[in-house]
Amino acid sequence: MALKNINDFKKFKKEGTPISVLTCYDYAFARIMEKTDLDAILVGDSLGNVVAGYTSTIPVTLEQMIYHTEIVRRGAPSKFLVSDMPFMSYHVSIEDSLRNAGNLMKKTGANAVKLEGGSDFRGVVEALVRASIPVMGHLGLTPQSVHKLGGYSVQGRDEEKRKMILEDAKILEEAGAFSLVLEMVPEDLAKEISESISIPTIGIGAGRYCDGQVLVINDMLGIEQEFYPKFLKKYADLSVTITNAVNDYSREVKEHLFPDEKNIFK
Ligand code: KIV
Repeated sequence: MALKNINDFKKFKKEGTPISVLTCYDYAFARIMEKTDLDAILVGDSLGNVVAGYTSTIPVTLEQMIYHTEIVRRGAPSKFLVSDMPFMSYHVSIEDSLRNAGNLMKKTGANAVKLEGGSDFRGVVEALVRASIPVMGHLGLTPQSVHKLGGYSVQGRDEEKRKMILEDAKILEEAGAFSLVLEMVPEDLAKEISESISIPTIGIGAGRYCDGQVLVINDMLGIEQEFYPKFLKKYADLSVTITNAVNDYSREVKEHLFPDEKNIFK
């Protein structure tokens, strides 16, 4: 049975039931996901990369997140839906963060928001949770900090950074986050974190011992051919399927094979 509400996150962790999450950005895909066993949908700011073609998530705006989350909710009315707070929407002040997260929730029907970072955002997480806005944390590789991190590399390999990420995970739990994305960290660190906190960890490039997994839908469906990081598993090869379909259509138009008798009105 798919996860239904925020309480199920802890329940699934307690039971040892893995949580399945995928990103989604539009109505058509959301309608398909609605009919699947998937536990939760994340409208990730990765839409900046995979939908808008930006080279990072930094340009993504709150308005874009609201637009995409609202149309995903329309396609998947019953799924647990998390929406990303974009870069600079929770960095300026607690008041500004509350206003932005509040708008994201009010205008989209999302069940929760996700934000990147640890101890620096403790106050923001506490304020959002106090305002009844459930928060999913995000540690390890935090793509909004790509310029600070110096690239998209595995985080927490050295002892100091490892300790920091573990500490941040505990801080986010204390601040009231209901779950935590761990992105591109060594498997043994993700295991240690998952065993040290009571909220579920949702891994992407964080190995086998997280309480759940998340992937970017475009990547796991093979829509993007050039992006193939080690942690990714492609469950389909849609770029080939789509390319073949488009070429078949184009050829049939040119050869007067489409439309045929079956496709015309009399
Ligand atoms: O933006 C996103 O899609 C994400 C996932 C990769 C976790 O944050």
